[in-house]
Amino acid sequence: MASQLLKGKKGIIFGALDERSIAWKTALAAHAEGAQLVLTNAPIALRMGKINELSKLCGDAPVIPADATSMPDIEHLFQKSMEALDGKVDFVLHSIGMSPNVRKNIEYTDTNYENFHKTLDISSLSLHRILQTAMKMDALNEWASVVALSYIAAQRSFPGYNDMADAKALLESIARSFGYHYGFKNKVRVNTISQSPTVTTAGSGVSGFDAFLSYAEKMSPLGNASSDDCANFCITLFSDYTRMITMQNIFHDGGFSMTGVSQAIVEDEQKLASQG
Ligand SMILES: NC(=O)c1ccc[n+]([C@@H]2O[C@H](COP(=O)([O-])OP(=O)(O)OC[C@H]3O[C@@H](n4cnc5c(N)ncnc54)[C@H](O)[C@@H]3O)[C@@H](O)[C@H]2O)c1
Repeated sequence: MASQLLKGKKGIIFGALDERSIAWKTALAAHAEGAQLVLTNAPIALRMGKINELSKLCGDAPVIPADATSMPDIEHLFQKSMEALDGKVDFVLHSIGMSPNVRKNIEYTDTNYENFHKTLDISSLSLHRILQTAMKMDALNEWASVVALSYIAAQRSFPGYNDMADAKALLESIARSFGYHYGFKNKVRVNTISQSPTVTTAGSGVSGFDAFLSYAEKMSPLGNASSDDCANFCITLFSDYTRMITMQNIFHDGGFSMTGVSQAIVEDEQKLASQG
């Protein structure tokens, strides 16, 4: 399928933890499309994850640690990336999410606010930090594309998603707000992709995830979008074929977001009613 759509482009991929990660699949797809990459993740994730394996699969892409909540780390990352890539950056994938409240099974209505701050800092403000640093360092080429990953709980209520729902709402808003400024300043575009539930470390941590997954599958006319599908969609947003799209949240969910109810769900309910 690869057709060198990203030939000559240079990108930074945040968030590849293991082979299930959406960032992992996106890095492989971007490499196959001819891009030159830098891979990054939080220092602790680099120690626990398998990023060196991914680096080899991506032509020995440099791996540069950066905690996405640390301004010095992000500055260092852009500096070293421009040196390694021998120039400015054409695309960035923000594939970062973590909620200590979700991890510790703390209910939304009983939230721990220190944890909540961390959720927002890691999962949302990190996008602002990355964009602000890139802008100050003039690290992105004109028409560069920044993509972050979101979920429909930003707009509709999904109780198990906890404070990550608020984090995603903020993430989408930052993409819109910063996209305005970066577009006028340097023709840089910023978008979010609202992805189907996907089996990954972050995804599976959400309470009731398996039920979520099968419900969404039954509700979506095309079925759930896989992480490979998501990677391919990221490639299109990094490419020049989508250069006039910015400040958008784009649903990549097999039609889930536009479906009120599906026949499969109706039949499930009918079965339950007939048993009762
Ligand atoms: N899996 C799903 O169902 C799903 C659905 C929609 C959106 N998303 C979003 O996709 C993105 C990628 O998640 P994934 O599903 O591939 O899971 P994942 O667990 O593989 O990736 C999450 C990444 O965030 C990184 N991270 C956490 N804290 C960090 C920090 N302080 N600094 C830098 N990196 C940090 C982790 O190390 C990890 O690599 C997340 O934003 C997630 O919310 C996932």
